Amino acid sequence: MKITMIGAGYVGLVSGVCFSDFGHDVICVDKDTAKIEALEAGRMPIYEPGLQQIVAENVRDGRLAFSTDLAESVRDRDVIFIAVGTPSRRGDGHADLSYVLDAARQIAEHVTGFTVIVTKSTVPVGTGDEVERIMREANPSADIAVVSNPEFLREGAAIDDFKRPDRIVIGLEDDRARPVMSEVYRPLYLNHSPLLFTARRTSELIKYAGNAFLAMKITYINEIADLCEKVGANVQEVARGIGLDGRIGAKFLHAGPGYGGSCFPKDTLALVKTAQDYESPIRLIETTIAVNDTRKRAMGRKVIAAAGGDVRGRKVAILGLTFKPNTDDMRDSPSITIIQALQDAGALITAYDPEGMDNARKLLEDVTYADSPYVAAQDADALVIVTEWNEFRALNLARLKAAMRTPLFVDMRNVYQVSEVTRHGFSYVGVGRAG
Ligand code: UGA
Repeated sequence: MKITMIGAGYVGLVSGVCFSDFGHDVICVDKDTAKIEALEAGRMPIYEPGLQQIVAENVRDGRLAFSTDLAESVRDRDVIFIAVGTPSRRGDGHADLSYVLDAARQIAEHVTGFTVIVTKSTVPVGTGDEVERIMREANPSADIAVVSNPEFLREGAAIDDFKRPDRIVIGLEDDRARPVMSEVYRPLYLNHSPLLFTARRTSELIKYAGNAFLAMKITYINEIADLCEKVGANVQEVARGIGLDGRIGAKFLHAGPGYGGSCFPKDTLALVKTAQDYESPIRLIETTIAVNDTRKRAMGRKVIAAAGGDVRGRKVAILGLTFKPNTDDMRDSPSITIIQALQDAGALITAYDPEGMDNARKLLEDVTYADSPYVAAQDADALVIVTEWNEFRALNLARLKAAMRTPLFVDMRNVYQVSEVTRHGFSYVGVGRAG
């Protein structure tokens, strides 16, 4: 198959690269010249484990190319994916579709022969209809079928998720697209990943309904964690106890500082807005958003309370800034709000993150960056694990204790056993665990 991917962001780049790894001929297009030049030189614009190697292999074997020339790259292709950003629109929280619709218009003007146009970007219900309308308006003779094919990969595990998905969802209105999409995903289908064909609007909604459900599940366990602290129960055991029920499932039941990232916050908001527009409000998700927003600042207060109620002039060491491990992505990371809450209370912040510090520098003011957890902990009055990077799972606790002024250990991801930390003379505060 000859595939073109418009947008070399997280989803576009990973999907395009993986399609080339399946044996398809892929061109990844982005209007950001610096990004395309970097990719051509073998440098990755994002941190994602394994990505660089698979890009190099497929470029070497001639299956993968990069371009800034959309017009040239959409001629004579079998499938064109649109994987550009759909950020929250400033002011009203709806998904901003301007990049998707611009791409659709440009594709329509240059496309030749029968071509399947696929929206991979996360787009609200009805966007496929709009993409089709705009394309037909821009070029009435274009022979196209517009398909929805949402992506479910997670940052930090993107390649593995893409190659071993729980399901592939394909929403279409024109049956000519069906064999084409089956061919695109043939290697995964042969590998037993189910292909779910639906109507286009259904497919668009599956993506939002899925992300919102996961955000709600996390928020639920976070509220249970708060209750655990009050009643002297242990949230990890509660999560295990309920997660073993196959109807609930064990995943996404890790209590923490609240969800962040480039997907859950914007997608929950967009779903709520769509539902309100259709006068079918989803109150569970409205509440999820509100609870999660409040939680992040409350986590800052949790550190202050653990430090005896006053952090003015005290040094707090933050370990982990990205919204989750194995990414350099700082978008909507809980660390931002937590650090601001601590700074508002007068704390001095030193931070360390394995990959996120360059992006953090663009967002956070008055933070001192350290090049290891131990340098961050020097003379600190509290140490806070905000993101559970693997390298924080086996910290040298004796060394940390020796470096710190006050041995207070706040573990927002429940990485450590309480006794393991207290044995070294720390006071320990986790999430949803008594003691
Ligand atoms: C999420 C979904 O998991 C993907 O399926 C989806 O494709 C993606 O959004 C998207 O729409 O593009 P991602 O944002 O990369 O993926 O990261 P997750 O691993 O889902 O984590 C999101 C947030 O939830 C993180 O802040 C994480 O720390 C938090 N989380 C996750 C918890 O606090 N507890 C958990 O048990 C799980």
